[in-house]
Amino acid sequence: MNRAGLRKTRISGLATYVPPRLLTNKDLEMMVETSNEWILQRTGIRERHIVDPGVGTSDLAKEASLKAIAQAGLTPHDIDFIVVGTTTPDMVFPSAACLLQTKIGADRAWGFDLGAACSGFTYALTTAVHMVAAGTHAHALAVGADVMSSIIDYKDRSTCVLFGDGAGAVVLERVGEGGFLGFELGADGSGGPQLYLPAGGSRTPASADSVADRQHFVQMNGREVFKFATRVLVSSAEAVLAECGRTIEDVDVYVPHQANVRIIEYATGKLGIPEDRVVIDVDRYGNTSSGSIPLALADAKADGRLGPGRLVLMTGMGAGLTWGSGLIEWTDGGRA
Ligand SMILES: CC(C)(COP(=O)(O)OP(=O)(O)OC[C@H]1O[C@@H](n2cnc3c(N)ncnc32)[C@H](O)[C@@H]1OP(=O)(O)O)[C@@H](O)C(=O)NCCC(=O)NCCS
Repeated sequence: MNRAGLRKTRISGLATYVPPRLLTNKDLEMMVETSNEWILQRTGIRERHIVDPGVGTSDLAKEASLKAIAQAGLTPHDIDFIVVGTTTPDMVFPSAACLLQTKIGADRAWGFDLGAACSGFTYALTTAVHMVAAGTHAHALAVGADVMSSIIDYKDRSTCVLFGDGAGAVVLERVGEGGFLGFELGADGSGGPQLYLPAGGSRTPASADSVADRQHFVQMNGREVFKFATRVLVSSAEAVLAECGRTIEDVDVYVPHQANVRIIEYATGKLGIPEDRVVIDVDRYGNTSSGSIPLALADAKADGRLGPGRLVLMTGMGAGLTWGSGLIEWTDGGRA
């Protein structure tokens, strides 16, 4: 980041958390009219993790954040700013960011939640990077966390097979060389009706009728969202690469939002990224919304793909409609 006097910023800690309980395709066969074969063929998903009753988004975020902060060689006291990308905060207020702040003991931090559905992590990350890059905050915590099982109708086979719960957190700090090179973000509110949760907000507060009508669950036009997702994964990746003067051939690790393996394969093919550079873990987690990109990034780190100097491209997309890409030159050290 060297535009307009922005400082270079890197990820110095990266950690994730998923709740232990598994929901497999076989389990779903007992709940709705579906089959393991259908789910695998149409989505690539085998299983997802689901919270136990009473567990909220800030609980998942806490586990990921404490590990990320320790990995960065810091304590929660060192964190200046917290942003939590989430569509499923523990409650309307206080924010999951405030609940997280006190759970981890980040006594110097301020923060807020950011609602961008499955683009939640890329939006939160972009915000946090700019807080550090502007020079006003030394250490920022960007979290993507969702308990999608709290807003999914387990009687609706067209959505309940897709989603899971999970969280990821990154710590951001200034760096001498490398780090974030650029971002490309966008929104198209006209696509809102394709993927939304009708009730529980100010327009339709919770009522006996809204509950009886199952209006507190995700509604989705799967085919339209599929078309949007494949289109934007390609256009956003191309835009951020062009802005940073890089090409697809330069990308070492591609981390797309994990919604459906068919969406990823379509975008990867269009972009021309070799398969061995693409991170896919949707089979194990399903679509964890804001948790998806940090979970995939952590998988890439665990299997040794995030070495110094490697170019990492990530793209998220989701309800809003929203999307966002980030390009990073991975670096392991050299604090600025
Ligand atoms: C949801 C999705 C997997 C459906 O796959 P698809 O190939 O488009 O399937 P269709 O919607 O055309 O449905 C085909 C048939 O399967 C049925 N079907 C839907 N869900 C099913 C399930 N879980 N099990 C069995 N059959 C199912 C449909 O009812 C339909 O039956 P019909 O032909 O008798 O009407 C796909 O559209 C998708 O992934 N969309 C994007 C969703 C997404 O990623 N959302 C989050 C974005 S962040």
